[in-house]
Amino acid sequence: MKLKDLIEMYEDKRRQHGDKAYLYISEIFEEAREEYKEEYLASPRAQRLRAEGKVPDAEQSWKPFKGANFEKLILYIIRQEIESLNLKCVPGNLLGRKNLPIELSRVYYNLVIKYGRFSVLPDADLVIYNPETCDVVVDPMAGSGTTVDVCKEEGREVIGYDLTPKHPEIIQNNARNIPLPDKSADLVFIDSPYGDNVKYSENPEDIGRISCEDERFYHELEKVAIEIHRILKPGKVMAWLIGDQWVKKNFTPVGFKLYERLTKYFETVDLICVVRRGQSSHTGLWHYRAKKNNFYLRGFKYLFIMRKPAPSAGKIKWAKYK
Ligand SMILES: C[S@@+](CC[C@H](N)C(=O)[O-])C[C@H]1O[C@@H](n2cnc3c(N)ncnc32)[C@H](O)[C@@H]1O
Repeated sequence: MKLKDLIEMYEDKRRQHGDKAYLYISEIFEEAREEYKEEYLASPRAQRLRAEGKVPDAEQSWKPFKGANFEKLILYIIRQEIESLNLKCVPGNLLGRKNLPIELSRVYYNLVIKYGRFSVLPDADLVIYNPETCDVVVDPMAGSGTTVDVCKEEGREVIGYDLTPKHPEIIQNNARNIPLPDKSADLVFIDSPYGDNVKYSENPEDIGRISCEDERFYHELEKVAIEIHRILKPGKVMAWLIGDQWVKKNFTPVGFKLYERLTKYFETVDLICVVRRGQSSHTGLWHYRAKKNNFYLRGFKYLFIMRKPAPSAGKIKWAKYK
């Protein structure tokens, strides 16, 4: 007698009594008990005990079996009901484990109560959750943590990495190798360096040390794009913010050059021009310099919204506008 036999007996009751099958659990265990005892008394273990002159006690052996499997059968029944409502459940004690899969870590963070440096997970036998609201946002180059702060404000689960973190919740990591399983992120936002115009660190792995006039810059960003593609769930979207460069009378269309690389892995959802407002170039001094040296004040960045293709992606369905 194993758990799968109990499940089979329950499924049998379901065929007979439909959604009232749970009322027959005691009956299932009564029937299982007799079978279990028969099996036990015929088992090599019971035979060994007899050979040693002892009396095998089937009732004694049944009790722990019943104790362990009663809970598992109840969980099986509840899970079926919950999944029919597009929800999921997890035994509460599982959430206390280390290295949880991303979906469960989201559930954990939603439940945990923080007291300063300490955190407490409320005691629960079973946690029911909606997987649809468990989306995880990842920013592989989170810098000072704008994405992290915005996600927290909006109640979203977020994981921020950066080679040189400037925010207590950002994890130090090279974006060329993101420590997340395949197909685990629901949205990736990335605001990568635009070239070597800003010095972020002395770290040789810092992509912001490579000029955008050098093809290596795009090659290294492509490695990050491949990682983003790996961690994204199929059909999910990433948004990449980047700007062009105009330095010493030389214009580099950084956005277009990166976009070209991204199209190897992603399909385009939309290209957005993000207008810069109140930035340091919006001053009299920069207006003067622009006129004097005959250059255009770059007033926008690109936001590439791109999707990891889903295997089942069908034909595009055009929306009809009235
Ligand atoms: C434009 S900034 C990001 C700014 C960020 N959105 C914020 O809110 O502060 C680019 C970031 O890329 C990071 N970076 C550069 N090379 C990296 C690499 N190989 N792996 C991870 N982060 C990197 C830099 O440290 C910098 O913080």
